[in-house]
Amino acid sequence: MIEPMEQMRVMTVGDVVGPEAAEWLGARLPELRERYELDWIVVNAENAAVTGPSPHNGFGTTRKELDVLVAGGADVITGGNHSWDGPEVAESFAYQQVLRPLNVPETRGKGVLTVGAGDKTLTVVNLMSPGAVGPHCLAPKPTDLWDAWTGLVESGLLEGTVIVDLHSGSPSEKAWFSGAVDGQVAAVVGTHTHDGTKHAHLLPGGTGFVAELGMVGRLGFSGYGFDPIHFVMECRGEDTSSLPPYQLATGDFTMGAAIFDITDGLTTSVVRIDAD
Ligand SMILES: [Fe+2]
Ligand SMILES: [Fe+2]
Repeated sequence: MIEPMEQMRVMTVGDVVGPEAAEWLGARLPELRERYELDWIVVNAENAAVTGPSPHNGFGTTRKELDVLVAGGADVITGGNHSWDGPEVAESFAYQQVLRPLNVPETRGKGVLTVGAGDKTLTVVNLMSPGAVGPHCLAPKPTDLWDAWTGLVESGLLEGTVIVDLHSGSPSEKAWFSGAVDGQVAAVVGTHTHDGTKHAHLLPGGTGFVAELGMVGRLGFSGYGFDPIHFVMECRGEDTSSLPPYQLATGDFTMGAAIFDITDGLTTSVVRIDAD
């Protein structure tokens, strides 16, 4: 008897920046799911809310943004260094769909989620590089990435097709990690730096890889989705204490995403898609 092939198509979307972007994406997900015949949608929403005056610790998510993303059809919602920002951390982590980086020594939230059953089983893992944590991040520092990964493999929690959202500031670090797990997972997608990288790679062992998915939000002039003046002044060594609260960017919307065709746990095709 021939075993049925496990086939699925998954769309992964980069960091949602601001409540308006969450509304914008949530309203489009049903049409995107239908147009691309998606089985699963994975969205990084670590910046979906504005919860404080500084971009260092003023993002996170709240129920308002999560509700529109879930209503639109987001099956898994990943996070990053901003997963612990804002007043609704406990409420956000109560959503079954919501992940935060596994390798952060925090008691709140979870870092792995399995959805579906049978030949449509998908496990999403959220990991973070220590380099993604800024000097004022409220979350504890992540533990070693590779130790976290090998511990997870040994845990037996990885069911079905596996996709990793690696939240990291370094494209090369994401590339090295994807090479290290090539053939073990269907995809590694990079998040955190918001300005999407151009290429969608299919590695020799069958792992699809995008170094940085990009973001969902208004493009502005920096590609980050917000006015970067706080970071610019810090770069110059200037005092930012008198700055007004940070502002989200203006201009056209952009969406950084990729679609993976997966057979028996490995990717056969990966393409980038853009908003329209
Ligand atoms: Fe982000
Ligand atoms: Fe981040």
